[in-house]
Amino acid sequence: MTSSTMIAGAAHTAEAPAASEFREPPREAWYCVKSTGSLAAGAMTSITVLGEQVVLGRMKTGRLFALRDRCPHRGAPLSQGRFDGEAITCPFHGWRFGGDGRCQAMPTLVDGDVADPGQVKVGEFPVCESDGIIWLYMGTGLAAAPPVPALTLAGPALCRVAVSVLVEASYDLCVLSLIDPGHVGYVHNSWWWRPTATAREKVKDFEPLPFGFRMRAHQASTNSRGYRLFGRPQTEVDFLLPGQRIERIRIGERSIINATFATPIDARRTLFTNVLLADLPQLMPLSPVIRWAARAFLRQDQRILELAQQGLERKPTMLLLGQADRLAQWYFRLKRDYAAARHEGKAFSNTLVPERLRWRT
Ligand code: FES
Ligand SMILES: [Fe+2]
Repeated sequence: MTSSTMIAGAAHTAEAPAASEFREPPREAWYCVKSTGSLAAGAMTSITVLGEQVVLGRMKTGRLFALRDRCPHRGAPLSQGRFDGEAITCPFHGWRFGGDGRCQAMPTLVDGDVADPGQVKVGEFPVCESDGIIWLYMGTGLAAAPPVPALTLAGPALCRVAVSVLVEASYDLCVLSLIDPGHVGYVHNSWWWRPTATAREKVKDFEPLPFGFRMRAHQASTNSRGYRLFGRPQTEVDFLLPGQRIERIRIGERSIINATFATPIDARRTLFTNVLLADLPQLMPLSPVIRWAARAFLRQDQRILELAQQGLERKPTMLLLGQADRLAQWYFRLKRDYAAARHEGKAFSNTLVPERLRWRT
């Protein structure tokens, strides 16, 4: 990898996955779709992920399900039907489907009709719940995919805040903003976070992870007011495929996890979900302030990303220069190698090596 990279529609050979595959979010990945608390037992909702409509619901037993939001009879959206906590009734002709997608009843059938409802099935997607987040998987070969990340605190979670913001920008552009040290002082230059005027040179050590890389534990920046609230804590940041940034902040025996997940809604829209978990009792009464700050932070990203998206639509190339853009280069490399491994049916192996990077922010 050179120090200057232009990402454009690169040529590809017959053996390699198509260039378009590098530019699209991986299908073989878990995506954060909702906060656990936002889907009660007996409720269902329509979501779009990777451009496909999915009906996501929770049976009255508590079990989650995710089905293609399209009735196989005439295509009506099942999410517009009725759900009684056990089955969905299609709004068009009343076919009933269980949470496993199998048709249980076709009300118009009479004795002698040659039709077996049990033979009709709506596509089902793996869905799981972990640390208060609902995750959806829409690809094949689940066993070879990056696992759902563990958001484990040292003690029980006493404070939990989750905020989502929809950004009208491509997945790659949004994911790059999670690992872009250069934008912090300009986009997030609020008085309460980091004024631009305080920029200074930083040195960070990185090491590879099975599906990403880690910025090794270091003392948080002195020019970030947000960190200074906690003295100067130790912080460690993981970036994981498909587009996850997980920061773990240690304050003595206590800890904070600040995680941001990018979910591809379609080719031009990406959902950011920010989850903050902490075992610090003093943060409990501050939840409303944390929610406000997290939303303000994501909106700062949303604004600049939507403007940059317009520029990329006029000319779809970008330059990756210097050590501050090395993380972006690593992202494209991980994504390309993961796509190639899946295409060839091989286990993914991360080829990144430990590296020290310097930049000015
Ligand atoms: S379209 Fe669903 S039952 Fe006819
Ligand atoms: Fe940002």
